[in-house]
Amino acid sequence: MTKYIAIVSGKGGVGKTTTAINLGFALSRIGRDVTIVDCFSSSLKDYLGLNSKKGLHDVLAGRSSIGEATYVHPYGVKVVPSHKIDLDQKKSLSQAMLDIYGKSDIVLLDGVSGFGSDAREIFSIADEAIFVSGPDEMSAKSVMPLINAAESLGSVSLGIVINNHSNSRLRSLDSLKFYGKSPLAVIPYDRNIPRSFSANLPVLIHYPGSKSSLEYLKLANLFWKNG
Ligand SMILES: Nc1ncnc2c1ncn2[C@@H]1O[C@H](COP(=O)(O)OP(=O)(O)O)[C@@H](O)[C@H]1O
Ligand SMILES: [Mg+2]
Repeated sequence: MTKYIAIVSGKGGVGKTTTAINLGFALSRIGRDVTIVDCFSSSLKDYLGLNSKKGLHDVLAGRSSIGEATYVHPYGVKVVPSHKIDLDQKKSLSQAMLDIYGKSDIVLLDGVSGFGSDAREIFSIADEAIFVSGPDEMSAKSVMPLINAAESLGSVSLGIVINNHSNSRLRSLDSLKFYGKSPLAVIPYDRNIPRSFSANLPVLIHYPGSKSSLEYLKLANLFWKNG
């Protein structure tokens, strides 16, 4: 059975794509067959160096099959990149995602920020959702309405990942306590993350011993250790 997991946030630029990539490679490390799908941000192809490749935009425009837009990374993870989506879409994301059912254990949907029609469609596809927040209180608060929206559309909330954390900025954790939610993972600010993307690799591969890599592995083991 394939599990679809949305990775979303209330605000942009907080680390969704970073989380999707590194969690994906961590899950692969522990033996899961993983596909990471860029749901319209176009940064997945930049981070992994897949610029000239076909992608989800071609699939939705009816120009290619999802198989033709799926790349097997040298480290084994399957990746579906995307450029911006054409307006004259011939296929829906849900249809495209049905076409990869059964081909992986886990499909990570590198999703959107905020709650609009794209988020609605992603939640209607996803079995589960992970919410990414920055280290600031505003960012943590902005995921709360999204959690309710996800659950009302059928995605079970796995919890919140606090990203870019530094010890001097504990306020997001305090504000989560206010909502009765403890984070699934706290990923530190780590300059090896942008450095690794400059080499078109996840930090988990390029700097496997770094603190952020170890946190992503812990996150992967939290839910998916035994299948
Ligand atoms: N924990 C971190 N430490 C340092 N830089 C990070 C961290 N997480 C993300 N970044 C950087 O922040 C930027 C935005 O991250 P990204 O994953 O693209 O956010 P989003 O997908 O939510 O827009 C990227 O340049 C990425 O390299
Ligand atoms: Mg992104």
